Amino acid sequence: MQPDRSKAPGLHVCTRGSGMTAAAQPRPGPARQQPDSSLVRAARAPSFTSSSPCTRSSAPGRGLEGPGSAPWARGGSCAGAMEEAGASLGPTEQTVQLNSGTRMPLLGMGTFRLQGAELVSQCVDAALAHGYRSFDTAAVYGNEAAIGQALGALLPHHSLARSDVFLTTKLGPRDQGKAEAACLRSLEQLACGYLDLYLIHWPGTQGKPQGDKGNRERRWESWRVLERMYHAGQLRAIGVSNYTLGHLQELLAHCRVPPAVLQVECHPELPQRELWDFCQQHGIHLQAYASLGCGQLLGRAEVGRVAERQGRTPAQVLLRWALQQGVGVIPKSVNPTRLAENAQLWSWDLSPEDMAELGAMDCSRHYCWDPSGVT
Ligand SMILES: NC(=O)c1ccc[n+]([C@@H]2O[C@H](COP(=O)([O-])OP(=O)(O)OC[C@H]3O[C@@H](n4cnc5c(N)ncnc54)[C@H](OP(=O)(O)O)[C@@H]3O)[C@@H](O)[C@H]2O)c1
Repeated sequence: MQPDRSKAPGLHVCTRGSGMTAAAQPRPGPARQQPDSSLVRAARAPSFTSSSPCTRSSAPGRGLEGPGSAPWARGGSCAGAMEEAGASLGPTEQTVQLNSGTRMPLLGMGTFRLQGAELVSQCVDAALAHGYRSFDTAAVYGNEAAIGQALGALLPHHSLARSDVFLTTKLGPRDQGKAEAACLRSLEQLACGYLDLYLIHWPGTQGKPQGDKGNRERRWESWRVLERMYHAGQLRAIGVSNYTLGHLQELLAHCRVPPAVLQVECHPELPQRELWDFCQQHGIHLQAYASLGCGQLLGRAEVGRVAERQGRTPAQVLLRWALQQGVGVIPKSVNPTRLAENAQLWSWDLSPEDMAELGAMDCSRHYCWDPSGVT
């Protein structure tokens, strides 16, 4: 049975194979007024502590040199030594170098539907304890402020600094074409000084038809703003989400800064092979969302058989399937035991037989939504 996501906040509505209808479009969180100086304040006075034993390898033209002590942000020997250690390392050290020069953990914690300051704090605490160093949120999730507060309070307890975590948030579809104010709002909400990754959440615009002629121009305006903020150092990497091959080709034909990341729904029933090939050819990192099919894939017989052969859980099999192909994952759970389970992904491999069995599940099924109708 399909989960009813129609009551979910923001962008996420599970509709098999359907496009995003006006009714399914993101419902924004409460509007917050944002003074123009907020970013300056945020950049000068991040609420997280910062220490910098290693210097970040900065991309050309970057203005903001924030704290650079995160293992994945270290250039040269720091990152190299950890990568060489390979599978013996914990999940936090398993990173990918983005085309922006920054390093991103391949495992992050998803936060869609994670609401309420107390629950957010408990989950972030458990995630940090289990080695997560990357957090994926979005303006439309309505939890940026709670995540910012939780990290600000919890990082010192885990002997971590702002630079030890990788924060991703996204431009809400209602803010296509108004990206600067929206991004400044997210920076203020997260109170994190800079964003490690900022994504355009959806190629369309909330409140406009999927085929609206202005979609392309608004996407393009948004991207130009992201490029500017990237060059100013406010955003360490920029990317897109829910873009199709056509949207990506159009972006690459016009951009000055290519996208570092494409975040899309991806799992054995929707392996996104064409997009994955394209991303590989163009140096774009593919990050999967809904790796568990929003929980629906956990009961599939094929997944169960592989899990039994491997002595692992179905969730671990689905997450490992992506990681083994170099695809990042951001599973979401509010359950500390599951958070721990979802992080045990590194010291084992799926066999070619396992990969073939999972590979045969491809049926182009979306558990979230399908952007192919957005012009
Ligand atoms: N860019 C986009 O448009 C977009 C769209 C969708 C999602 N996302 C991002 O991707 C993240 C992940 O996607 P998602 O949350 O939609 O789906 P998901 O990670 O595929 O599945 C989450 C569901 O699986 C359950 N679950 C998690 N781990 C489990 C385990 N080990 N065993 C059994 N059940 C488990 C969770 O329940 P409990 O919480 O009760 O454990 C939750 O109901 C989101 O949180 C969000 O950050 C982005």
